Amino acid sequence: MNPTCKKRLGAIRLETMKVVAQEEIAPAIFELVLEGEMVEAMRAGQFLHLRVPDDAHLLRRPISISSIDKANKQCHLIYRIEGTGTAIFSTLSQGDTLDVMGPQGNGFDLSDLDEQSQVLLVGGGIGVPPLLEVAKELHARGVKVLTVLGFANKDAVILEKELIQYGQVFVTTDDGSYGIKGNVSVIINDLDSHFDAVYSCGAPGMMKYINQTFYNHPRAYLSLESRMACGMGACYACVLKVPESETVSQRVCEDGPVFRTGTVVL
Ligand SMILES: Cc1cc2nc3c(=O)[nH]c(=O)nc-3n(C[C@H](O)[C@H](O)[C@H](O)COP(=O)(O)OP(=O)(O)OC[C@H]3O[C@@H](n4cnc5c(N)ncnc54)[C@H](O)[C@@H]3O)c2cc1C
Ligand code: FES
Repeated sequence: MNPTCKKRLGAIRLETMKVVAQEEIAPAIFELVLEGEMVEAMRAGQFLHLRVPDDAHLLRRPISISSIDKANKQCHLIYRIEGTGTAIFSTLSQGDTLDVMGPQGNGFDLSDLDEQSQVLLVGGGIGVPPLLEVAKELHARGVKVLTVLGFANKDAVILEKELIQYGQVFVTTDDGSYGIKGNVSVIINDLDSHFDAVYSCGAPGMMKYINQTFYNHPRAYLSLESRMACGMGACYACVLKVPESETVSQRVCEDGPVFRTGTVVL
């Protein structure tokens, strides 16, 4: 085994990645920086399937890649403590290691967009992180990026200042404690611009709204979550139905997590 303990099981890549840093960026929300060879293969919108470093947890936990730094072989993940697995991740510190499977999933399609293009990013809560890499890559190509973010309250706001580097950002909060009171629809319903592509990730209610609003848009994308087991397409624990079909389904881990609007039942 080589020094990074990297193995390939068929198309599945496992690697022991190094923890470079970890910081609590908002109450119960952590940013984890990992380093390893796997970074070379990462794309915006993919996720990592992390083994909880504790023998009591058999299932890995999926966490989206928030940003990718190929030059330094580092990636950033941003996660919220939900249960015991993420609580254990939050105890990791510089020099620790983590058993990582990935990069998993299809990622966002960022092709064929240039300085003539305008895109809309819509993120909610802990769904905002994977949009950061999208904004970074598209901005570098000269694409005009407009971002609308929704959070429960001021304490939950993350990544606003990072995303402002790449274009205009609107922030809404449910309770009005920061930005505009309400949810992202307050902003989006009033936009009259044409968007060449729409990228979104957030809670189920927000994903339903984006799916309906951009149902027939040729390039509107939803990054979806579901409870996962294998995380590699084998167990069908994470399936979603396809419209007007009783038999066809899509696996969030393998066929997603990114789907075009109108292609899965939410
Ligand atoms: C493709 C994908 C990408 C994700 N990216 C991120 C991310 O970037 N940042 C982040 O904070 N979280 C992300 N998640 C959610 C994250 O995987 C879960 O919060 C985590 O697995 C919970 O593990 P736990 O052991 O802490 O909680 P558990 O003890 O397993 O669960 C605690 C509570 O959270 C609920 N829960 C757990 N997983 C999910 C889920 N997938 N969907 C809805 N409810 C869930 C459980 O029902 C339970 O109520 C992602 C999930 C998927 C499927
Ligand atoms: S989690 Fe096993 S198929 Fe998706």
